[in-house]
Amino acid sequence: MNMLSPDGPVAQWIFQLWWVLIAGGVAVYVLTIGALAYAVLRRRKATDPAPENREGKGRNVAIATGLTALILTSLAFASYTTGRAIADSHAMEGIPVSVTGQQWWWEVYYPNPEPRLSVLTANEIHIPTGQKIKLDLRAVDVIHSFWVPNLAGKRDLIPSRVTMTWLQADKPGVYRGQCAEFCGYQHAHMGFLVIAHEPAKFQHWLENERKPAVESADPLAQRGKQVFLSQSCMFCHAIRGIPAFGSTGPDLTHVGSRQSLGALTMRNDQASLINWIRDSQHYKPGTRMPPIRVADDDLNALATYLESLK
Ligand code: CUA
Repeated sequence: MNMLSPDGPVAQWIFQLWWVLIAGGVAVYVLTIGALAYAVLRRRKATDPAPENREGKGRNVAIATGLTALILTSLAFASYTTGRAIADSHAMEGIPVSVTGQQWWWEVYYPNPEPRLSVLTANEIHIPTGQKIKLDLRAVDVIHSFWVPNLAGKRDLIPSRVTMTWLQADKPGVYRGQCAEFCGYQHAHMGFLVIAHEPAKFQHWLENERKPAVESADPLAQRGKQVFLSQSCMFCHAIRGIPAFGSTGPDLTHVGSRQSLGALTMRNDQASLINWIRDSQHYKPGTRMPPIRVADDDLNALATYLESLK
């Protein structure tokens, strides 16, 4: 995460503004300290009049005031221009993606006029490079803030409101994002990834996400599916293709293809998944996911099944 290494136009504008403000701030600091040092160090001549009788005092104050006003106005103008440049592009049509923040994860939705072609996932926003992505941001519980420093500035997600922002990645890559507004105990564990692909690869990803969950031929995975359906999992999680329709937690239809568990809390692999299901409260205290009590064999089968959902 580094806003000084911009990889898209929004981040580029913010980066330029940052340099203007830093350069302006440094120049003012140097001038001020220089004037102060000059005043302290210079020798007063015996013939100097008392300060209140000095000529040109009013003129110097006027120059300093004018200079201050000029600097502040220029910096405000630079900030305004950057804001306009980012906001103007809002009007342009980008690929719509809805992001909903909740304690403490991100739901990511790719709407489509044809509902069966919409895509629902979590904690990962896949995007094509070189195209604008228009983001609608919502929150279900408290205020969160969407921030991917390499691609765009912060934007708050506010309950009962929709805020908007946009971003674009110029080259393929994985960009880390983070909730930037304190939102409770696990605020720090509310990360996400923006994964930028070449457009053709993105389309491939999107088409795969549209499919219902794969049916694995592995008997262990099949047993895992039965465990999933016989436990409380399906009350909170949905998997398209099997009768699991919960919407409290992330959609798990393609959970095996995601890089992390618990919004970047853990790597997504079989061992972590077992630990997460058994005792998520240990790794992310306060998360809504309760500990799931299942026999070790069943747990292993369950993790195998979930990891097979690519
Ligand atoms: Cu969500 Cu901090």
